[in-house]
Amino acid sequence: MGSLFRTKSVESSVRETEVSGHRLRKDLTALDLVVFGVGVIVGTGIFVLTGRVAREYAGPAVAVSFACAGVVCALAALCYAEFASTVPVAGSAYTFSYATMGEFVAWIIGWDLILEMALGSAVVAVGWSGYFASLLAGIGLELPPSLAGEGARFNIPAVAVVLAATAVLTVGVKISSRINALMVMVKLAVIALVIIAGLFFVKAANYTPFIPPAQSTETVEGVRAPLIQVLFGVTPVAFGWFGVFGAVAIVFFAYIGFDVVATTAEEARRPQRDLPIGILGSLVACTLLYVAVSLVVVGMQHYSELSEAAPLADAFKAVGHPVFAGIISVGAIFGLTTVVLILLLGQSRVFFAMSRDGLLPRGLARVHPKYGTPARATMLMGTIVAVLAGLIPLSALAELVNIGTLFAFVLVSVGVVVLRRTRPDLHRAFRTPFVPVIPILAVLGSLFVMVNLPVETWIRFFVWMLIGVVIYLVYGRRHSKLAMSEKSSRSVI
Ligand code: ALA
Repeated sequence: MGSLFRTKSVESSVRETEVSGHRLRKDLTALDLVVFGVGVIVGTGIFVLTGRVAREYAGPAVAVSFACAGVVCALAALCYAEFASTVPVAGSAYTFSYATMGEFVAWIIGWDLILEMALGSAVVAVGWSGYFASLLAGIGLELPPSLAGEGARFNIPAVAVVLAATAVLTVGVKISSRINALMVMVKLAVIALVIIAGLFFVKAANYTPFIPPAQSTETVEGVRAPLIQVLFGVTPVAFGWFGVFGAVAIVFFAYIGFDVVATTAEEARRPQRDLPIGILGSLVACTLLYVAVSLVVVGMQHYSELSEAAPLADAFKAVGHPVFAGIISVGAIFGLTTVVLILLLGQSRVFFAMSRDGLLPRGLARVHPKYGTPARATMLMGTIVAVLAGLIPLSALAELVNIGTLFAFVLVSVGVVVLRRTRPDLHRAFRTPFVPVIPILAVLGSLFVMVNLPVETWIRFFVWMLIGVVIYLVYGRRHSKLAMSEKSSRSVI
């Protein structure tokens, strides 16, 4: 039983990164981190989900939902910043848990991160395909709906973008901060265009009612009902305040990726100062942009008429400006590409860390002799993600990504408190303020958002985690590097 809780010491995790030839340069400034953050964060959430969520859950109040999700993320971000500066090692929450809460929790979180990153990139790829189809439609090339966009039977553009990203990652991409900065500029320019040009088409009438009255709709029928409404025995409703909270749980997706900023702790020049500025700065910037964009878009078009696949671009088509729509689609396509790429990158590194520790077959941790990348892990994962992106609609996937990420927030926030108790001696370049208040609020906030997710998402999440537990018990528990070294030290005795 004790083996479930064996931990890998923080020192040994850090030592592994200091092996010569593997040291990262400490070169990133606070501004670099903010730019990086915005590059990873701004994607499908704002470019796609805004439309669906306004239509189905919150009406114009989707802007309030964006603000609430931002607050929960900020609380969790403060905890991520501490762990990242204490255990500045690739592998994100997985590595951190291995050092604090033991192997089983680490496996659970690693398994859970697959939902965030692998599935997350599939979702963004599906969003990408919606904009791609909208762009082609703008120049008169209609893709059949069975082959692109949300309702596709086999989403070819989504598969193509994932496979292309996988190929790039396999041969060793150095997403230099310059390319990222360029992409971020394009993305921000497009967002600025939406806000500024869109303002001219806002009609006050579209804002009333701001929070449409609660009503039972198909969206929240049966297993689609948010868990909290089922627990409280209310007849499930969309809109009204329940709808606004339900929307928080879905637009939360728009913030996913800021934890990737935390993983750059090893490379920050002054982590104590730069990391919180980087993480919180990108969060604040994104929250303001999201609130502004969603307010403009629901002002341009009545919320019930927003498009599902490409709401920002299509709102401009609806007001008679297809040229703007075209520009927005191009910007979105560029912007979403970086998100797919960086989430896949994050996932391949977590896979790599898990297989290096022996929790997954160790062959996956082999680095390609020529490219110097975890090529096997990358290709295996890219293929799985491509199949998922091809077959499953955006909405079903996005919610599962959210629950997975929120669960990681909970474990990380708890982990910060645990590590303060168990290892007060460790050097923490950044300390979360007001511990344990902030971690507790982060846990409560995340749980609140989680219970606002539909029942079916919870069921899928449990099934996924159960599969993970079984795999650990039959494989990881025996094959982990720690298990092996325990075994060999026993045989020596
Ligand atoms: N936050 C990222 C997006 O919205 C994952 O696409």
